[in-house]
Amino acid sequence: MADTSFSTRLLTWWDRHGRKNLPWQNERTPYRVWVAEIMLQQTQVKTVIPYFERFTARFPDMNTLADASVDEVLALWSGLGYYARARNLLRTAKICAEQHTGELPLTPEALLALPGIGESTANAIWSQANNHPAVVLDGNVQRVFARHDAIAGWPGKSSVRRKLWSAAEQVLPESRGADYTQAVMDLGATLCTRKNPVCDQCPVNSDCSSFRTGTVEQLPTPRPRLKITAHSFHVLILIDDQGRVLLERRPPTGIWGGLWSLPEHHNRQALEQRLGVEHDDMQSLPSLRHQLTHMKMTIHPHIGPAKPLATGVECNQDQRWFGPQDWSKIGLPKPIRQLLESHLAGDTTMSIRK
Ligand code: ADE
Repeated sequence: MADTSFSTRLLTWWDRHGRKNLPWQNERTPYRVWVAEIMLQQTQVKTVIPYFERFTARFPDMNTLADASVDEVLALWSGLGYYARARNLLRTAKICAEQHTGELPLTPEALLALPGIGESTANAIWSQANNHPAVVLDGNVQRVFARHDAIAGWPGKSSVRRKLWSAAEQVLPESRGADYTQAVMDLGATLCTRKNPVCDQCPVNSDCSSFRTGTVEQLPTPRPRLKITAHSFHVLILIDDQGRVLLERRPPTGIWGGLWSLPEHHNRQALEQRLGVEHDDMQSLPSLRHQLTHMKMTIHPHIGPAKPLATGVECNQDQRWFGPQDWSKIGLPKPIRQLLESHLAGDTTMSIRK
């Protein structure tokens, strides 16, 4: 058994080896910590960094964000996935602007009441912004405690999560809350990794139960197999005489919720009829595949001119014509953005006109 506490050993290790230059650590304001923690939900640090930099450059504080349009927020989120996070971020900014004088309320309870903030995220924000030690339990930290205390069972199960939470609670330090939160996350991200963990360099290996029993690689217990569904659908790239493309706003919930996307349907004929286009005017492009966590998509694109009549048809409020210069300003699903950019990057007007 080690003679110094878990947190002391961890913090000593972190002082030497931890990450100190993450963009949300320097200028560690509650606003920046909050934006970072929301982006870091289910997304790795190296993916988040450029998004974080762009987002905070455009929206440096809560009131600027609160005044933004959902389209602009989604545009800066485009490609990061899990778009409900972006919509919740904007809702939270509006709540903070209206009810908390433009500040993030800094107690775990008040944070928890905001959209998109669960227990672990509330504590991650609070501990870093207030320097108060608190339990955080993102995927990396779950792995640390599942191994250290040999807690079996999938951490997504509430009974397992409760055990992990209590293990994490028991070893919290008295002070240095912000550093400790970062340290335990860094341990999970850099040494206590899912594959090839570096146990011989771990500061808490002397009392790690799974290290002692040689079960590190078996923990945490993986998620029960996900059922992956297949989804195949057609999309139309309809181009008007100004080179703009018709996009439709997706419903707020579900896949790509709230993003602008191409008109789609699993039945090509039904889709063409709905949009009033001539089947023979449309040229099929190669199909593309895209995988989400639980869904394999096959997208069949068809491109063609919008008839003058169709262009004139009033769009309903969830339909709009967007030119290439607009695409960077709105939230588009990643494969749809790629599709548009690869086929229509330059002059779009003439090449496919009949
Ligand atoms: N995951 C969630 N929050 C994080 C943070 N602050 N640093 C690294 N990974 C994280």
